[in-house]
Amino acid sequence: MIHTMDVAPPPAGFRFAPAALIANIPALPCDVFIQNGGRAVLFAGAGAEAEAISRRLNLGVPILIRQEDEDLLASALVAAIPGVLRSYRMGADARSRIAYGLATASLRPLLSYGARPDESDLLLSHDVVDAISEALAGDESLVGAMVAVMEQHPATYIQAINTAVYSVLLARRLGITHGEALRAVGRGALLHDIGKVRVPTQILDKPGPLDDREWGIVQQHPAAGQTLVLAALGTEPTYLHIIRDHHERSDGSGYPTGRSAHSLPFDSQLVAITDAFVALTSVRSYQQPTSAADALRTMRFVQKGQFNDEIMREFIALLAGWHDIRRHELGALLSLLGR
Ligand SMILES: [Fe+2]
Repeated sequence: MIHTMDVAPPPAGFRFAPAALIANIPALPCDVFIQNGGRAVLFAGAGAEAEAISRRLNLGVPILIRQEDEDLLASALVAAIPGVLRSYRMGADARSRIAYGLATASLRPLLSYGARPDESDLLLSHDVVDAISEALAGDESLVGAMVAVMEQHPATYIQAINTAVYSVLLARRLGITHGEALRAVGRGALLHDIGKVRVPTQILDKPGPLDDREWGIVQQHPAAGQTLVLAALGTEPTYLHIIRDHHERSDGSGYPTGRSAHSLPFDSQLVAITDAFVALTSVRSYQQPTSAADALRTMRFVQKGQFNDEIMREFIALLAGWHDIRRHELGALLSLLGR
């Protein structure tokens, strides 16, 4: 996985690049460098065979690219995802791990504080989630493997891809099996928190309760996300309501509007559930991650009434297939829900 490495910061104008993942690209889309005495030294030029380059690099040696090549590299990483997911040379575990790494590496710049996403950034993010969504629909062996490799990391880009994976799987279970509707769920779930790129990191990562001013800023992120996406695409995508609504709650206790279940679209209510689950089960600055069963218990009993019963029921049943949820716990979680 390619989080920021514990090494000296890159020289001005350069960015770290994920050496292990670059091996999955047929040819380098840009020059790559290694760091030597605080300077970036050219290691291989654009067009070189990426797999061979990657093999020559010792494990742990950070490689660099020019800052202006970040978009080129991200496009190449995303373009590699479908081939990795379909590869018959690797088992489902390896395919999932590499595709997840490629997805998170390419999404990180888009979903980090201060990002200014443009149309090509958003179209790239669509490609990421569409590729994963299609692969999960067509290859059942990938489903459990993908869930198993997902990290419990607090970063927005990690939570975004995790929420998208759960949302697509849950949508399929609820009968949204393909086409535009499934793509909307996946894309909306992936980009639901894009407005957080406008929320300062010291607020998002604050190790304690937020004051009124900070909470006010956090509550603006759904509207900020809508504005960002509309401005970048120049037209309203089919998933915009998911960004707008993901913190609304069935009982009207959510934000920003406090609308209740009858006025919330089904897919908004779906992503509200998967987002809440991912947040509870992730490492955060102010809380330890909870187990899947504890997270569901919190959502089912402590946050009672906040989530759609029917969708909640199917989500619990879905998760019971992959997470260690005991039979008697499952019965309690499912009691009196829906149908
Ligand atoms: Fe959010």
